[in-house]
Amino acid sequence: MADKRVTFASKIGVVAAAAGSAVGLGNIWRFPSQAADGGGAIFIFVYIACILFFGIPVMMSEFIIGRSAKANTAGAFHKLAPGTPWKWVGRLGVLTGFLIMGFYIVVAGWTLVYLGQSISGHLLSVDNFSAHFNNLLANPLKQSLWMIVFTLLTAYFILSGVRKGIEKSTKIFMPVLFLFLIILAIRAILLPGAGAGLDFLFKPNFENVKSTVFLDAMGQAFFSLSVGMGCLITYGSYFNKNINLAKTAVQVTFLDTLVAIISGMIIFPAAFALTSNPSTIVDELVTGGPGLLFITLPELLNQMAGSMIWSTMFFSLLALAALTSTISLMEVVTIYISEEYRMSRKKSTLLVTSGVIILGVISSYSTGFFNILDVSTAKYMLPAGGLFISIFVGWYLNKQIVAAELTNEGELKFGIGFLKMYIFLLRYVAPIAILSIFVYGIIG
Ligand code: PFF
Repeated sequence: MADKRVTFASKIGVVAAAAGSAVGLGNIWRFPSQAADGGGAIFIFVYIACILFFGIPVMMSEFIIGRSAKANTAGAFHKLAPGTPWKWVGRLGVLTGFLIMGFYIVVAGWTLVYLGQSISGHLLSVDNFSAHFNNLLANPLKQSLWMIVFTLLTAYFILSGVRKGIEKSTKIFMPVLFLFLIILAIRAILLPGAGAGLDFLFKPNFENVKSTVFLDAMGQAFFSLSVGMGCLITYGSYFNKNINLAKTAVQVTFLDTLVAIISGMIIFPAAFALTSNPSTIVDELVTGGPGLLFITLPELLNQMAGSMIWSTMFFSLLALAALTSTISLMEVVTIYISEEYRMSRKKSTLLVTSGVIILGVISSYSTGFFNILDVSTAKYMLPAGGLFISIFVGWYLNKQIVAAELTNEGELKFGIGFLKMYIFLLRYVAPIAILSIFVYGIIG
C-alpha cells in the first residue's frame, strides 16, 4: 500500500512545493519587522546562526521521517516508533499547523482586501493609511469574509490533490513571486535616499537589541522555514526515492532566507526614501509589526509614480506567498485526518476548512486570541517540536534508516564527516541550543 502513495512528479516540483511552504507572510511580514525590532544586522546574524545550527538539520530530519515512513505527520511517528509516546510529537505538530492557520489566514485575508483596493484604484484615494487599516481591524465581519475567501481558495488546491493541486500551483506561483520580488527590490533600491534603509537593515544597531533577540530569532527561523511541526514530514512523504534530501533542505533554506532579506531590501529602502518624517520612521518601523505592510508601505507606495501598479504587484506578491504556505498547512491537517480516520480527501478537506474558518472568525473578532495563536505557535510550539524532532532522529531512529535516506540507499556519496556532523548537530547542538534559548527567554 505504501508504494502506491502519490509522489510529487518532478524535482522542480519538490523544491517549488517546499519553498512555497517556507516562503510566506513570515518572510515579508514578520522578518522585516523582527529585524528592525532586533537591531538590524544583529538579528540577522543570530537568525542565520539558528538556520545553520538547527534550521537545516531539523528540515533534513523532517524529510527523512516523512520519506521513510510515507505517512502523514502523526502517522509517521506511529510507524517509525510503534507503541511509543512519540506519536504525540506528530499530533502536536498537526495541532500546531491548525493553530497557525487560525491567525495566518486572517492576515492572508487582509492581503486580498488590499489587493482588491490596489486594482480598483481605491487605495489611491486613501489619505490616512493608519485610519484605513484600523477601520479594517475594527470590521471583523469584513475580515472574516475575506479570510473565508482565502480559506476556500486554499481548499480548492487541497481538493485538487498533491500533483494537480499542490505541485502544479506552486510551480507556477513561485516563479511569479520571485519575479515580482526582484522587480520591487530594484525599484525600491533605485529610489533616491534608499541607502539609509539598507544601512538600517544591514548595520548592527546595538541600541535596539533586546534580551529576547535569541528567542525571537529562533522562533522566526522555525516559523519561516516551516519546520518544527512536521509540515515538511508531510511534504517529505510525497518525495520519490531519487530526491537528494540534504541538497533540497539547503536549497529551500537558501531560497527562504533570500526572500526574507530581499523583502527587507524592499521595505526599508522604500520607507527611508519615501517618508516625509525622517525623524519618526525608525520608530514606525520598529513598532510597526503588521502595520508595516498595511500602513507604512501602501502609504509610501502611493507617493510613487505608477503607484497602482506597484501596490498591485506588492499585494499580489503577499497573497501568493501566503497561499503557497496555507496550502502546506492545510495539507498537513487534511491528510492526517484522511489517513488516520480513513476519510476521503474531500470529506477531510471539508472538515478542516470548517474548523479553520471557525478559528479564523475568532481571530478576526479578538486581537488577543490572534496574538496568543501567533506567539504560542511561533515562539514555543515550533521550537518545542523542533527539539523533539532532533532528539527523535538524533537518538531514537535507527542510524541505518538515516544513512539510507540521506544517501538514497547508497547512491549519493557524502563524506562520513558529513553524516557525523549532522548527527552531532541533532544530538547535542540543536537540543542544547533550543533548550538554552527557551530557558534564557523565559528567565532572561
Ligand atoms: N513558513 C511560512 C511563512 O514563513 O510564512 C509559515 C508556515 C507555513 C509555518 C507552514 C509553518 C508551516 F508548517
